[in-house]
Amino acid sequence: MDAIDLQHVRDDFPVTRRMLYLDAAHQTPLATSIRRGIEAFLEESNENAGPKPVWLGRVEAVRARAAAFLGAAPQELAFTKNTSEGLNIAANALPLAAGDNVLMIEGDHPNNAYAWLNLARKGVEVRFIRLHDGVADATLFAPHIDARTRVISMSHVTFHAGHVHDLASIGALCRERGLYFVVDAMQSVGVVPIDVKALGISLLAAGCHKGLLVPQGLGLLYADARLTDLQPAYLAWASLARPPADLIANPADLAPAPGAARFELGNFNLPDIHALDKALDLIEGIGITNVHAHMQMLGDRLIEHLDRFGIGLVGPRTRAHRAHIYVLDLPAEPWLAYFAQHNVRVSPERDGIRISFGIFNTREDVDRLAGLIYSHSPDRWADLSPADFRLTA
Ligand SMILES: Cc1ncc(COP(=O)(O)O)c(C=O)c1O
Repeated sequence: MDAIDLQHVRDDFPVTRRMLYLDAAHQTPLATSIRRGIEAFLEESNENAGPKPVWLGRVEAVRARAAAFLGAAPQELAFTKNTSEGLNIAANALPLAAGDNVLMIEGDHPNNAYAWLNLARKGVEVRFIRLHDGVADATLFAPHIDARTRVISMSHVTFHAGHVHDLASIGALCRERGLYFVVDAMQSVGVVPIDVKALGISLLAAGCHKGLLVPQGLGLLYADARLTDLQPAYLAWASLARPPADLIANPADLAPAPGAARFELGNFNLPDIHALDKALDLIEGIGITNVHAHMQMLGDRLIEHLDRFGIGLVGPRTRAHRAHIYVLDLPAEPWLAYFAQHNVRVSPERDGIRISFGIFNTREDVDRLAGLIYSHSPDRWADLSPADFRLTA
């Protein structure tokens, strides 16, 4: 049963009329309502080249909305370009010294890993921990913490198998042991509810082009306001506490702005920030808890089908440990070409074919996918019949 009626949301995504889009973890298709938000900005720019003060007022309004969406205060949120930029800002802002170490999960997203590996030049070591089963929680990291461990950095939801890690227990461990907790929320933001305070997150980075439904080029960086010792690696007029009004650099006053503003450089990605405003309308109109529940419901249906086929699921099966990403244990060859031939968009992933849902997907989409899997090799599933994949009422 559909948790909520999302037909009006589906209608906002023209891509759903052109193909079976099951690749939201790769790139969001653009919703028409969000496109209109960008177009309205372009129209103002085209006709009047501004007014910039109005645009900047909107930047602050969207910042406040986006911060609230994460459970943060506006001054704790910086706009960036993407996840990698946010993670690199975080890695370079923390007061780490030679001999310190950072704990990560082996195989986590390379954009997270490289931000920390790049600190080798300062003598900071990255230690990768192997996750055998299930999802990561405090018990995975606790035995690896030593006197020089300063940071745990990890993805909230993994891109390669869809684990939804237990951030709450890891955040509590970091609080208890005095560690910084850095989270890559690229795959979770806009899909799974996030409350940075409740989860004990020190810094969180995400891009907006997946669950947040915005075209590529905008990121969010949350920095806990209590971390007053964070140092920006770059400095610009806008990132100063007291930017000189005469626009002449003052070497005697380089104090960075309080809060996350110290990490913002120069002008903003205004089209995308306008898009984010509309995207938040869309997501908050549904409710993030409902979005998450919808993804889990689609996952339930997919797993039902996979079980009938005897096709393995690479990531977690437990509802609490999964959201919108499901990797099917099917070889990329021939499945990728087969799906493409039938106008189905999916991604090849490390261990199979990755299906990832967006808020525009329905249970019928999952049934269509199952029908296609069946038709690929009906002999292999001779004990099943096409009726098993008939659309549900
Ligand atoms: C977990 C995770 N982090 C980061 C990224 C991408 O980083 P960026 O936003 O810098 O392109 C992705 C996927 O594109 C991802 O899945």
